[in-house]
Amino acid sequence: MKCIKKVTDNLFWIGANDRTTERFESVYPIPEGVSYNAYVLIDKDKTVLFDTVDFSCCRQFSENLAAVLDGRKLDYIVVNHMEPDHAASFESTANAYPEATIVCNSKIATMMGQYFTTDFSDRFHLVKEGDSLTINDHVLNFVMAPLVHWPEVMMTYDSTDKTLFSADAFGTFGTLNGKLFNDEFDFDRDLIDSARRYYCNIVGKYGKQVQNVLKKAAGLDIQRICPLHGPVWRSDLGYFIEKHDLWSSYKEEKKGIVIIYTSMYGGTQNMAEIFAAGLNDRGITEITMYDAAKTHPSYLIADIFKYSHFAIASPTYTGEIHPVIETLLMEMEHLTVRGKTAAIMENGSWAPASGKKIKAKLENMKDITILEPTVTIKSTMKAEQCEDMEALLDAMAASLK
Ligand code: FEO
Repeated sequence: MKCIKKVTDNLFWIGANDRTTERFESVYPIPEGVSYNAYVLIDKDKTVLFDTVDFSCCRQFSENLAAVLDGRKLDYIVVNHMEPDHAASFESTANAYPEATIVCNSKIATMMGQYFTTDFSDRFHLVKEGDSLTINDHVLNFVMAPLVHWPEVMMTYDSTDKTLFSADAFGTFGTLNGKLFNDEFDFDRDLIDSARRYYCNIVGKYGKQVQNVLKKAAGLDIQRICPLHGPVWRSDLGYFIEKHDLWSSYKEEKKGIVIIYTSMYGGTQNMAEIFAAGLNDRGITEITMYDAAKTHPSYLIADIFKYSHFAIASPTYTGEIHPVIETLLMEMEHLTVRGKTAAIMENGSWAPASGKKIKAKLENMKDITILEPTVTIKSTMKAEQCEDMEALLDAMAASLK
């Protein structure tokens, strides 16, 4: 008996759940785990494998594949993405099924030479944008999706069953816990935060490329989406596509504010708390706060994408921005955050400088509106800073309304 899930009568999920890895790509904490999805199509007399899994799950995947094939030969392996969380098990799989034709694009073929020692060149069926491959009853159409998330990425659309194998796109952090389909979860309650954090941090930089793919997808009649991570989408596709449209066009999901601070001895935190309470006094309730020293930047980035506004409060540290806030700003720059309205608060016991430096970094980003004034305190909030704080609160509350 194997952990195999039926997607349709002829399509099977043979992936795995990773509950061991602490940090995805050695960067993002995944306390919720992650699934690596691979699929097998069993046509009348042909079989097709779509992608493989991370090497940590290779044994389970290989057993699942053999069980689904049940003695039949594997005819095709479609490789949509070469990142090793999906392709690390490819070499051993392709060697175990030497008759399988390898369907991929030329960039994927090149990367195979980088990752693997086996020369697969005489087994390639290379495809490009708009190509299709008929496998008995199924017509596979190939859609190039460069930089969603790597340059070689492609998607495969089975126009017979109206299934899109979307590679990393439409993925979600989190294990599947025995389930497979989106409608078996309370997605908007339990998984949307993981989906947002996955998207914004993994492909957030490539909004334009995601928009291009969404335009291509709009021309397809899609009944289900089979991503490489997270649930298979078989209902309410519009909900998830709309989220990706918002995220990739850097539009907020919610009018509201995320306040991000860090504080060494409490003065900066108190300033941030006064700011949050002052907003609430002005009728604002959509307020979230984080201490950047206690929260991984990937969570902060996800909320910056989610909300229309953000505020940053930072101590001055060796004449610079506090390192954890500086790390966040670096991530924001890398992920090309834009289209937001911001407030800045700074602290410095003898020479406050973090505010000016934060402002310079935000001004380098695209379409960030910075509200005035920057609130400056020296060690702790005093009566003489109240006027600036009230002015910033009024400006922020007006913008949020
Ligand atoms: Fe899930 Fe870009 O790999």
